[in-house]
Amino acid sequence: MNDMVILISGSGSNMVALAQAAQQRHWQARFGAHIRCVISNRPDAAGLAKARDLGLHTEVLDHRSFKDHPQPREAFDAALAELVQSHQPRWVLLAGFMRVLTPVFLDRFEHSVMNIHPSLLPAFPGLNTHERALAAGCRFAGASVHWVNSELDAGHIIDQVVVPISPGDDAQSLAARVLTQEHVLYPRAVERVLSGQS
Ligand code: GRF
Repeated sequence: MNDMVILISGSGSNMVALAQAAQQRHWQARFGAHIRCVISNRPDAAGLAKARDLGLHTEVLDHRSFKDHPQPREAFDAALAELVQSHQPRWVLLAGFMRVLTPVFLDRFEHSVMNIHPSLLPAFPGLNTHERALAAGCRFAGASVHWVNSELDAGHIIDQVVVPISPGDDAQSLAARVLTQEHVLYPRAVERVLSGQS
């Protein structure tokens, strides 16, 4: 069984790329890999409607509803772990999921959580990767798919894609070009894992 749950927070374009790859490359027949659920921590995430349009089951767990809890981050992570576990996935795919997960979540899904990050890790973990790459004078940007551990964007790298920076690039144009490559990279990386190559 290679069932998957995808976590999103926003536009969900990587989730769509994964769902399309799952269908077009017959992940269910080849690997027993079915996307069981798409979960968003934001009720207004545009990706939710895209997931429903693709026939995927969706759920929302709003992190803001934990804000009065003495340990809001851990309480959210515990509830998220329960929700994810209820779908019994083998893999948890973070796709533009804008929350740092604590060990409360990660200890339940050890060696099972992947993320896509818009930089050539270990360069530029965290936010504003394209601005920082441009400010540093980089000639190449890119994206990485990596295993998730409790250190931010620091887990072992599964696969990467390189995107050359053009002289006229600003953060927006670079982000758009990297994003189109992310849509190729993430399905490729997941397929590597599903076929036991990573
Ligand atoms: C992507 O650039 C991803 O690498 C980053 O957030 C963005 C999400 O885009 N973590 P989308 O929601 O998949 O469209």
